[in-house]
Amino acid sequence: MKKIHVAASTKEYDVIIGEGLNYGALLKEVHAPCKLMVVSDDTVFSLHGEKTLQSLQDAGFETRTFVFEHGEKSKTLAVAEKLMIQMIEEEITKTDLLVALGGGVVGDLTGMVASVFLRGMNFVQFPTTLLAAVDSSVGGKTAVDLPNGKNMVGAFHQPLTVLCDTDKFKTLPEEIYAEGMAESIKYGIIYDAELFEKIEKNAISDEELVAACVQIKADIVAKDEFDRGPRHILNFGHTLGHAVETLSEYTIGHGQGVAIGMAALCAAKLPENEAKRVLHVLTDRKLPLKADFDIHDLAVQAKADKKRHGNLVRVVLPISIGEVELKDVNLTEWEEILKDGTDKVNSIM
Ligand code: GLY
Repeated sequence: MKKIHVAASTKEYDVIIGEGLNYGALLKEVHAPCKLMVVSDDTVFSLHGEKTLQSLQDAGFETRTFVFEHGEKSKTLAVAEKLMIQMIEEEITKTDLLVALGGGVVGDLTGMVASVFLRGMNFVQFPTTLLAAVDSSVGGKTAVDLPNGKNMVGAFHQPLTVLCDTDKFKTLPEEIYAEGMAESIKYGIIYDAELFEKIEKNAISDEELVAACVQIKADIVAKDEFDRGPRHILNFGHTLGHAVETLSEYTIGHGQGVAIGMAALCAAKLPENEAKRVLHVLTDRKLPLKADFDIHDLAVQAKADKKRHGNLVRVVLPISIGEVELKDVNLTEWEEILKDGTDKVNSIM
């Protein structure tokens, strides 16, 4: 079992990572028994709901559940409203807790509701996907989508703790696990060449991988909880990735979108031998390198980016594996980078 401490400016908490965690016993270490609203999606709940509720009840917590249909299409204000209405009906109060049992959609929506329900209450994250474990469950970004863009409504709201049971990854379909690998590879490229090499050589366990990624995220969040500058590097591959997700109407997953984004930028900016290593590790992990959309249509999607100011979009460009830089570019420059990257992906592979 590994413990990573996150020292955000608004709240400090631990992320516990291990195989076969006892949720109830670990939660009791940070919060006295209370009423819990366990939020999950239908897929995760059918696999892990019963055992999770049992563990929480055994530790003295009273449980209620809210289960919604899996998928990004459920990450809406309408589902959030339904959850809040049920919370009122169940007489959940500010001293109770929300529990997010699931992947990024469940965590983001639950956290967003926790940030506003009764003007804010505590929540905990039990990530069940590699992607949620290494990224979305840590750092306090919460959100729901609007029809015209992902994560458009939300708040920074840190969880009370994150309990990551890596056993849950065993039930993940291959492409969902691969989405988490894309985010893990991202940490290697932006921050840690050694981590990249371990992933490349397949020489790292899930527990070590999550701990390494969460440690990097904890370092960055401690410097910039509110995403004012240094934290932007976590967005590497995401500007193009979000565009691919949106144009595909979410039939292409977040991790796959990020992989396509990273492939284009690495091909455009890294020396060829390093770009090849990135493209190979992505392919090896069954991640895509390109999508069948018009480059111009992809580039203009950056208008919806939350880090846009005026006509400029803040993008993260790789310098070498382990180092990136932030750059503000206009949409024409962005389109040129994407075109160059896409051409080079085709010629390198
Ligand atoms: N997922 C990017 C961030 O937490 O800043």
